[in-house]
Order: sequence, then structure tokens, then C-alpha cells
Amino acid sequence: MIFVTRKMHFSASHRLFNPKYTDEENDAVFDKCNNPNGHGHNYYLEVCVAGEPNPETGYVIDLKILKRIVKVNFIDFVDHKNLNLDVPFLRGVIPTAENIAIAAWDQIEPHVTDGRLFSVTLYETENNFVEYKGNR
Ligand code: NI
Repeated sequence: MIFVTRKMHFSASHRLFNPKYTDEENDAVFDKCNNPNGHGHNYYLEVCVAGEPNPETGYVIDLKILKRIVKVNFIDFVDHKNLNLDVPFLRGVIPTAENIAIAAWDQIEPHVTDGRLFSVTLYETENNFVEYKGNR
């Protein structure tokens, strides 16, 4: 089993708040992330596909194809967007790194036909990242 990873970048803004909470409760839970006009991140997404090399090509998945799958089905929807307002597949969820990673998995997984999607890892900052392997 070989693990093949493509790293992608996007920039986006968000505000973390729960509309069910009062302003005080949102401040207590989300602190600076609840800034009413939002704030931005330079995100990195690592998409890892697992499989055996195809004997004819030597590839688990052609990385040009993986790049295209991630771009068309995820990056193009979120890059330079407001994650609270602009992204259909994030409607109704709090756009934490956790929920963005789950959405990325759901957007990308059906399109990976060479090998299988093994994990998505979303870096919100250099030091803060989440990993999702599709098990809810
Ligand atoms: Ni943030």
C-alpha cells in the first residue's frame, strides 16, 4: 500500500459563531474567532490517496488528475470566499477546520476512482490542523 498526497492552498475568511447562542455565549465560546466582520486564513489542504501502483503506469493516481479533482470540486468553491456565506456545501455549518475538512472529504471522495481517498488534512495555521479519514 502506497500513500500519495497532493497539497493545495486556498485563502478564505470566516466567522465562528452559533446563531443559537447569545452574543455573550458566542464571545465566551469563540472569543476572537467570533469577530462580527470575520477574519482570514491561509489554509493548506493535504489530500492523501491510498492504493497499489498500476502496473502499466506505476501510479496509484496521476497527481495531475488528483490536483484537478481537488481544484474543481473543492478549491474553486472556497478560494477567496467568505466561508459563512459563499459556499453552498458549507451552508448551515459552523466553518471550523473540522467542518471544512469533512466538507472537503465529501466533495472529493466520490471523484477518486484510482486508489481510494485515505485522508484529508486541513491546516488552518502552521500549528493548528485537523485530519479526517471519512469515519463519522
Ligand atoms: Ni479562524
